[in-house]
Amino acid sequence: MLYLGIETSCDESAMALLHYRGEGRAEIVSELVSSQCLVHADYGGVVPEIASREHLRALPLLYDQLFIEAKKSGVSPSDIHTVAVTVGPGLKGCLLVGTCFAQALAAGLEKPVVAVNHIEAHTLMPLFAEERLRFPYISLIVSGGHTEVHMVEAVGKYQILARTQDDAAGEAFDKAGALLGFSYPGGPKLAQLAESVSDSRYSLPRGMLERDGFSFSGLKTAVSLLVKKEEDRFESEPEARAELCFTVQQAIVEQLVRKVSECLRHSKVRQLALSGGVAANKMLRRQLSKLDIDVFAVPEPAHCADNGSMIAYTAALRSEAGCAATYPGKVAPRFPIVAL
Ligand code: KG4
Ligand code: ZN
Repeated sequence: MLYLGIETSCDESAMALLHYRGEGRAEIVSELVSSQCLVHADYGGVVPEIASREHLRALPLLYDQLFIEAKKSGVSPSDIHTVAVTVGPGLKGCLLVGTCFAQALAAGLEKPVVAVNHIEAHTLMPLFAEERLRFPYISLIVSGGHTEVHMVEAVGKYQILARTQDDAAGEAFDKAGALLGFSYPGGPKLAQLAESVSDSRYSLPRGMLERDGFSFSGLKTAVSLLVKKEEDRFESEPEARAELCFTVQQAIVEQLVRKVSECLRHSKVRQLALSGGVAANKMLRRQLSKLDIDVFAVPEPAHCADNGSMIAYTAALRSEAGCAATYPGKVAPRFPIVAL
């Protein structure tokens, strides 16, 4: 069955066509992402109004291009079985553009629309990537907007074990990156420089490991004070800047790994899935892979970041499990994974 997935929750317009074969098996027919990163770079972060307009501009172009690709596999719009779209969490205006597009398209094709939770999609995508992954598993999602750990018992059955109390991990990387002089998004640039050293002269306070969450906001203040103090040294000694990047990365990664390790130990689950843009971080992957687990499932980088395939795949899994949600007639900027 052919699913069209549409994702517009933040600053990536993404669309994918996915053939679902059943029991978790699926093939991607075509997929495209149009990133707005450069558009927002001048503002140091995502500007919601601009993001919505960019989605409006991008979606029709993506749709046309998607079917130019799909035609090579003999697939045309009339083959679509279901249109899947993100309804939350995310930026309200952006979600509205995606859902309006999905509804109009589905009405024209006389096909149903399935509503998808963006976090659930990140949580389930490792099943697409790693066929050894089985329920129950622990899922860590780390992106620019979310940092959450879930127990995934089955499709549609989740327990939130931990979440950030303030900034998301990617946000912490980006804010520290900005203080260290990197353009938005600073996370990958900070991480790249951090990888050039293996030790550091600096230390940073660790966030309180709260009972059910992470905390990264204290880190930003500490980095800001250190940057002010060390500004001159960074000019004359570039390695010092790399070392501070190393320490920032270590402080964020350590908190994530400790919490995941605690969740694995308490639950006695030995399967771990990682997703979200920060999953690209090498130190995080290295340290998580060393935990006491049997399977460590991480989708390829394009499927860790926001993409349309995860939306299509989630709608397919939910349809198979008999719990697909129809479009609720509204979007939800804040949207717990258990809401649909
Ligand atoms: O999931 P994603 O592509 O977009 C959303 O936030 O929805 O995640 C983007 C985030 C940004 O904050 C970016 O700085 C961070 O992922 N990121 C990284 C790395 N690559 C991307 N953070 C640390 N290390 C990386 N290698
Ligand atoms: Zn995301």
